[in-house]
Amino acid sequence: MKLINFDEKNRTFHLSNGSISYLLGIENEDALSHLYFGKAIKQYHNSRKYPTLDRSFSPNPSESAIFDRGFSLDTLPQEYPSFGHGDFRNPAFQLKQPNGSFITDFKYQNYEIISGKPTLEGLPASYVINQDEAETLIINLVDNLLNMTLKLYYTIYANRDVIARSSQLINNGSEKVTIDKIASASIDFPANDYELISLPGRHIKEREIQREVIQRGIKIFESKRGASSHQSNPFVALVSEKTDEFSGEAFGFSLVYSGNHEFLVEKDQFKQIRLMCGINPYTFSWVLSPNELFQTPEALIVYSANGLNGMSQIYHELLRERVARGKFQYAERPILINNWEATYFDFDAEKIKGIVDQSSELGIELFVLDDGWFGKRDDDISGLGDWYENSSKLKGGLKGIANYVHDKNMQFGLWFEPEMINQDSDLYREYPDYAIQTPNRSMSKGRDQFVLDFTREDVRANITQQMCQILDNVEIDYIKWDMNRHITEAYSLSLGAENQGEFFHRYILGLYEMLEKLTTKYPDILWEGCSGGGGRFDAGFIYYMPQSWTSDNTDAIDRLDIQYGTSLVYPPSTMGAHVSAVPNHQTGRITGLDIRGDVAMGGVFGYELDLRTLTESEKDIVKTQVAFYKQYRQLLQYGQFYRMISPFESNLAAWSFVNKDQTESIAFYFSKTVVAAAPLDIFKFVGLDANKQYLLDDIVYGGDELMNLGVYINPQIHGDYQSRKFVLKAI
Ligand code: DGJ
Repeated sequence: MKLINFDEKNRTFHLSNGSISYLLGIENEDALSHLYFGKAIKQYHNSRKYPTLDRSFSPNPSESAIFDRGFSLDTLPQEYPSFGHGDFRNPAFQLKQPNGSFITDFKYQNYEIISGKPTLEGLPASYVINQDEAETLIINLVDNLLNMTLKLYYTIYANRDVIARSSQLINNGSEKVTIDKIASASIDFPANDYELISLPGRHIKEREIQREVIQRGIKIFESKRGASSHQSNPFVALVSEKTDEFSGEAFGFSLVYSGNHEFLVEKDQFKQIRLMCGINPYTFSWVLSPNELFQTPEALIVYSANGLNGMSQIYHELLRERVARGKFQYAERPILINNWEATYFDFDAEKIKGIVDQSSELGIELFVLDDGWFGKRDDDISGLGDWYENSSKLKGGLKGIANYVHDKNMQFGLWFEPEMINQDSDLYREYPDYAIQTPNRSMSKGRDQFVLDFTREDVRANITQQMCQILDNVEIDYIKWDMNRHITEAYSLSLGAENQGEFFHRYILGLYEMLEKLTTKYPDILWEGCSGGGGRFDAGFIYYMPQSWTSDNTDAIDRLDIQYGTSLVYPPSTMGAHVSAVPNHQTGRITGLDIRGDVAMGGVFGYELDLRTLTESEKDIVKTQVAFYKQYRQLLQYGQFYRMISPFESNLAAWSFVNKDQTESIAFYFSKTVVAAAPLDIFKFVGLDANKQYLLDDIVYGGDELMNLGVYINPQIHGDYQSRKFVLKAI
């Protein structure tokens, strides 16, 4: 099937896989217009041709092939807008030239259509396995004065409702140009009452779903922290007013990038909406010398006509199947026990072995030794940067613990925070210049630590070598890669003055290079991303690490929000979720072991508490949970995920998993605080086959009956913080 067509007569490009269509056109011979993105159409007959209209104060480019007072870049819906020729909205890029000018004039030159999808040099991106599963349109725009080319990339997959976009700038001229801004993608939507969904948050409260009406003016979601951050996840969606979980249109924008990002939404004077995303232009600048190329990160733009669940499911499949890589991409992930909330820094070999003994008896499969095993590290003020074991703390050393764990037929995992350095560390004493710092300025601390300058090859090499020393000598099955502060006093002692604007992006490029090296060198290790919980939960990280610690908040009730919000973009197979102790360490809330287990089964399941302190009946519950999760692990990690009731909007929450052939489903239902004499709610199942019969609690029901009639649920709820799971099996 041909996925991309160029209509010579109307000069329009039509990208379509039979489910979605994306249309762009060449206007007035040289400007690129955005025509349409949405449900597929068979053929385009120019119905969206932008009307010619002489609008006051909207200038007309005089050098266009056809001078026309009815044509203005100020009003035209565009694909990759520039600044300087009459469009007063925000541009997708901005270049500073040797003579001080910001004015550019990139005109449509030609196009290329190739099968498959090129990789993005040095950056994570979605990929293809077979060349015929996608096609890529490359549009070349040229500024003749600067002798520069802008290449816009659009990939459409045959079986996925996504357009992957990125851009490249190539300097063929003889002078340096400074890039002050370069977005990954931009789309102008026609006037509409769309609403905006975003995922703002904070540490221990990540990815809260925020929905707002778009007013005229500009709204920006961004990170200036050097990481994608807890505060602003690199994602937004435009939705129609009536869009809910199951119906209505949704346009998702997700950036495959872990650094400073910007999502800019501008509703213009005529209520048209411009949405662009990419590297945050704030303090960004990049010197592009002759013969150099700059590659932007990739934006994944999804269209769903089936509400937010439809959008999420497209993202889930894409991130699992064409962004995550390696041995664990589809592998069943082990149930782990992490010692962090069980011991914090206060452990020795005996304590650890006691937890391992207990875990193995309960059927847990992987033991993770968290922070505190290295250097001088008995609290969070020293030791980072010294990645050699503290054998006085761990008698028998790491090898001893690893062997002990393996002898129990369990796997062994280890925590690292490779990007950091404490002032009180051997590394800092030897190389104080490794820490990020601005000359003659004080250095801010975060959790008492500094960030290493990962723009520098020698700094990365030092840490890589220390890590390899451990990984080559101890049998390690899993690594948790943490990052516990953001970047301040951003500057690199190794970059010249005119290149300091490159710092943040170079940091991420350096980090990606190191991740690529390590994950390739140790393909049998399961890597889990983390940043003080879910501070770097983004599509870029998923390219290197198939799972991430979702939040440092392990409270079951707060986790309903956090996991529900996270699932808007990221699949359950990426979300680390652990059962922890009560009173919960972050909130002080007391919840039962059942609901803690049920919530954690919404992600990659594990435990994070001192199992030795459990009563016998609690241990029985844990055993049952572990056995249940193992039995349904495939469904829970890789099944189709549906959000059903939002904890943001009610006292309840619900979600469910359905397998590919719709023969198995588990729905989870959660009630926060109990309501006396509550009205009776009906719980309707979703995603089943209407023509199949399902067994639920030993009774046979039709799929149509369960989805359309549902079951009464409230009489079974007594007390606060209750949960219930419904296991459905087709007969
Ligand atoms: C933050 C992480 O999110 C925690 O799980 C734990 O690993 C600590 N860091 C250790 O310092």
